[in-house]
Amino acid sequence: MKALVLSGGSGTRLRPFSYSMPKQLIPIANRPVLEHVLANISALGVTEVAVVVGGWGAEIEREIGDGSRLGVRITYIPQDEPLGLAHCVLLARPFLGEDDFVMYLGDNMLPDGVGDVARQFAAERPDAQLVVRKVADPRNFGVAELDPAGRVTRLVEKPQQPRSDLALIGVYFFTAAIHRSVAAIRPSARGELEITDAVQHLLAHGGDVRAEEYAGYWKDTGRTEDVLECNRRMLEALVPAVAGEVDADSTIEGRVVVEPGARIVRSHIEGPAIVGTDTLVEDSHIGSGTAIGRGCLLRSTRLAESIVMDGASITDVPGLHNSLIGRGASVGASAQHRLVVGDHTRIEVAA
Ligand code: G1P
Repeated sequence: MKALVLSGGSGTRLRPFSYSMPKQLIPIANRPVLEHVLANISALGVTEVAVVVGGWGAEIEREIGDGSRLGVRITYIPQDEPLGLAHCVLLARPFLGEDDFVMYLGDNMLPDGVGDVARQFAAERPDAQLVVRKVADPRNFGVAELDPAGRVTRLVEKPQQPRSDLALIGVYFFTAAIHRSVAAIRPSARGELEITDAVQHLLAHGGDVRAEEYAGYWKDTGRTEDVLECNRRMLEALVPAVAGEVDADSTIEGRVVVEPGARIVRSHIEGPAIVGTDTLVEDSHIGSGTAIGRGCLLRSTRLAESIVMDGASITDVPGLHNSLIGRGASVGASAQHRLVVGDHTRIEVAA
């Protein structure tokens, strides 16, 4: 089996981060979302992976590399325009050949893995095995209708009046039968070749399409709230390890990772939390649910439930929480509020 990871999307819901980085590289517990995705694929024993990339291809390739670090071999496939998930399958056809493959959206986090679904697919080999989940508002998703025996009877992309609350989430297993359907469909109203339409075409032409309701944790990391919630979830699974320096006046409580080269001085850290390489935390209180990247400076600051990306500095800020601080950003105190704020940034100050 091969894998096809789709990382072309622009991520406008994650502004302003999406102006300077692809959403697939947003760090969750100090690892890019895409790295978590690739680790999950590697855990299935799949080594041949194609990653479809758009305008951020060079950044993704620079960060993720050839995949050897994660036990996979990556082929990057450029997609010049976002023409849909099924268009990615079309582009990847020479890579995929006649092999079975798992298609995985590069911004979806399923930390409990998809091993059970993969095993079921391998044992029964339906033409398509979909992963679905009940959601509150199915109108933003591809929606699957199932018969009482659990077979898929119909699929609709983003229906205005959904007839089921089972949404397609970011993982699909296919045999080569999907290629004929991908080649047969036309672009949708939003101008994209929809994978949902391709699977519906397969179904309508007698294909065996199944769906499994996913019981594990799933998060589409499309919005900052989701990124922060997922960050906490991933931190809770960390194996505590203190490799950096913690001075005698500091205390560490709970599940905490202090990476090599990090220094904790006169501070308190409450897990789950991670402090990245070459970061200095001084006279500060790091509350639980916090991931601090590499080369950051935190001085006289209280912070919780947040992500601080590489190279950022925060000084003299007594109460930050639920915050996402970008790479190289600096946050500090002054007598009055003074803000230099990028486009589409969100700031909330204590009233
Ligand atoms: C895409 C698919 C949709 C699926 C969703 C899962 O939507 O078209 O069927 O339910 O991913 O995240 P998009 O993110 O392109 O709107």
